Amino acid sequence: MAKVTWRGGALISPLPPTMVSCGDMENSNIITIGWTGITNTIPPKTYISVRPSRHSHAIIKEKGEFIINLTPSNLVKEADYCGIYTGKKVDKFAKCKLTKVKGTEVDCPMIEECPLSIECRVTDIISLGSHDMFMADILCVHVDESLIDKEGKLHLDKAHLTAYAHGEYFELGKKIGSFGFSTKKKKKHKKTTTQKEKTQK
Ligand SMILES: Cc1cc2nc3c(=O)[nH]c(=O)nc-3n(C[C@H](O)[C@H](O)[C@H](O)COP(=O)(O)O)c2cc1C
Repeated sequence: MAKVTWRGGALISPLPPTMVSCGDMENSNIITIGWTGITNTIPPKTYISVRPSRHSHAIIKEKGEFIINLTPSNLVKEADYCGIYTGKKVDKFAKCKLTKVKGTEVDCPMIEECPLSIECRVTDIISLGSHDMFMADILCVHVDESLIDKEGKLHLDKAHLTAYAHGEYFELGKKIGSFGFSTKKKKKHKKTTTQKEKTQK
């Protein structure tokens, strides 16, 4: 595979175009964030990287809380809108007709229409250059119960989540594997001992 070498750039893809809600039930905002991920499993930790010029930056810095709402494909237009317009000038909850539901651990509203909402409390703020990284503890996760089966297994594939890659949005589609499937051995049929083999022993 022939490759050209470019200078370093923010090209890890795909990323989730999350809708991050912040503020409180009266004064809330939504900012679309692609620069996010998991930083630790136990305890569960995450981050969002936000430019200091964003309206949400001051809100999150002051409150020390935010909620990451995962974007299903039917809300991708709303996510894009929340990533273009500033909450300084527009009430994005009202404009996008999204419903606020108060968090259980934080004052921020989560977005009712999103299948997963992840409540976070800021632990550290690291200035990296263009963006400040808000490192946070994941306090709890609210999951659409229609995605959970009788055994309590979460079927995230049914959430029609959106991916963001190099300026374009995609809906997650075909399942092509599951964790550890590359190492799974085929089940061997138990060999039944024949009369002849028995006598040979
Ligand atoms: C798909 C997408 C991803 C984005 N990711 C980020 C991000 O990770 N960090 C950031 O500061 N801005 C990001 N933005 C831009 C902000 O969402 C945008 O500037 C927004 O209008 C800021 O809203 P606010 O001023 O109400 O906080 C993204 C925008 C889009 C459309």
